[in-house]
Amino acid sequence: LSVDASKSFAEIQPTMYGIFFEDINFAADGGLYPELVKNRSFEFELGLMGWEEPNSDRHSFNQNSGKAQLVKYSDSTNNHNYVLVTVNDPEGYELINQGYRGMGIKKGEQYRVSFDAANKGAISAVKFELLDEEDNLVSSTTVPVNSINWKSYETEIIPSETVEKAKLRMTFEGTGDIWMDMISIFPKNTWKGRKNGLRKDLVQLLAAMNPGFLRFPGGCIVEGRTLAQRYQWKKTVGPVEERETLVNRWNEEFSHRLTPDYFQSFGLGFYEYFQLSEDLGAEPLPILSCGIACQFNTGELVPMQDLDPYIQDALDLIEFANGGPETNWGKVRAEMGHPEPFQMKYIGIGNEQWGPEYIKRYKEFEKAIRAKYPKIIIVSGSGPFPDGEYFEYGWEQLKEMGAAIVDEHYYRSPEWFRENANRYDHYDRSGPKVFAGEYAAQSVAIASPENKNNWETALSEAAFMTGLERNADVVTLTSYAPLMAHKEGWQWTPDMIWFDNLQSYGTPNYYVQKLFGTNSGTNLLKITEDGKELIGQEELYASAVTDSNSGELIIKLVNTSSEEKSVKLDVKGTRLGSSGKMMVLQKQDLSAENSFENPTNIQPVEETIKTGSQQLEVSLKPYSLNVLKLKM
Ligand code: AHR
Repeated sequence: LSVDASKSFAEIQPTMYGIFFEDINFAADGGLYPELVKNRSFEFELGLMGWEEPNSDRHSFNQNSGKAQLVKYSDSTNNHNYVLVTVNDPEGYELINQGYRGMGIKKGEQYRVSFDAANKGAISAVKFELLDEEDNLVSSTTVPVNSINWKSYETEIIPSETVEKAKLRMTFEGTGDIWMDMISIFPKNTWKGRKNGLRKDLVQLLAAMNPGFLRFPGGCIVEGRTLAQRYQWKKTVGPVEERETLVNRWNEEFSHRLTPDYFQSFGLGFYEYFQLSEDLGAEPLPILSCGIACQFNTGELVPMQDLDPYIQDALDLIEFANGGPETNWGKVRAEMGHPEPFQMKYIGIGNEQWGPEYIKRYKEFEKAIRAKYPKIIIVSGSGPFPDGEYFEYGWEQLKEMGAAIVDEHYYRSPEWFRENANRYDHYDRSGPKVFAGEYAAQSVAIASPENKNNWETALSEAAFMTGLERNADVVTLTSYAPLMAHKEGWQWTPDMIWFDNLQSYGTPNYYVQKLFGTNSGTNLLKITEDGKELIGQEELYASAVTDSNSGELIIKLVNTSSEEKSVKLDVKGTRLGSSGKMMVLQKQDLSAENSFENPTNIQPVEETIKTGSQQLEVSLKPYSLNVLKLKM
């Protein structure tokens, strides 16, 4: 192989490797957003979902011990319900919250217990107890309630044990009526210690990927099954208690796992997404509804004459992110604690939409955004059928309009990924740039329990990604999808990161993404064998970059064969030091996976390699991704 380190063919965009977050598989509530109480604000549609009253049901002698019922506020627009608890027999009544498939609590850590209450009877205090799986007491706190009017209460609880599936038991001292709302137990040990913060281990996994952008909030949840159920960012900002809960588009979808309890509390809303992007050093890339509900469901269309509010949402979002504190929406952001603009550069219009109805609507958005915010880069979509008629149609139209970036999605077999490493080699260099916004190799059918994040899928993605990188002049953003899944709450497989209530791990696909993301470089080179780039000849794939910040030549070599391969490399245009590093991700068994029990079964191993000043020879293990880092 030969590479000339002095010939840069393109700049690698800092956005090249990013992440795509969607609230699917309980990735937000019950995942990244670590509230422990399910349905804390009593807004989930199906009554007291998440809450149980075991004593009042179980003990017939005690059926009248107490009762909880939903009541509608007469004067609140977003926060519709509160709970009225009537206690007749304080010894006999309890209210239990099971959490999101249990509550993960950690020994010795602090949890904030908070709630709003109006004490309308003779109840003197509310007792909060955390119980383990066998109902043993793990921690408790008692909060006196002294106001007849709504008042916020806050205290702290510290578990004496670590429990994966704890629950909350609330009991009451005294009798009578008490109104309650926003009953929350929230870890204090969040990412950066923020009050309404995010689960630390999960953000740490993301931060370690060095993502260039964060696309949010989805995915199909952007679109909703109906237009009324689309994601509306304005309802996700401001005080958390005023954010209007919405059914999740993935509620009960794909019958492998029934999840009728899937709602969006929006505790993790647009402000938090922007903040997360900032924390990660990633460009925020919000995607908004274009006025078409999910085309895999109803595909409901907003009539063209009613499109304005949708367009206004996009314009207002730019003001929310970038406007000064004196602007209407900039003020909302400033009041939430971020007077400085978020410096958003990109906005996506429509997730995975296709066909003439999309193009018609997209044009209107583009006209309005370009007129008011000419510097904002708009991301458009080409739909999910990479070889289909609609895909061609979308691309033609968008090209004609001079669109900036087109989002492509593909969930295909491992073979498809290996065979398509040359996908972008012939894309028109004068057309729009590509955002490979959702992709993942599927070991079997999408969203089935057998569809695994095994080594074959990850290795095939690695082979494909050398093709993304070789085409960095046209491909400027890429992200795997979906990002996260709760082991008991998923609707889709495969997923890059798996978690339960306490732990999380990266799949082999995660480590592939991480190796590319942390070694993206700044300038694209050509690496060739007899003048040809490696796109699978003899089951080898390659890409090469230099990193002007670290002064390194970085070469990615993927061997998808069962044989070890020896590779000689001639380097021109620079001189190398006497040794370098090689990160190797490898497994002999293509069906191997990572798991909670063995989370690093497949993970990169670092080797030191000897290098000549302009030559080196390395051995590539069977089924391996190898990243060579050579000081120039
Ligand atoms: O990533 C899962 C889903 O796949 C996304 O929500 C959607 O955009 C695509 O169909």
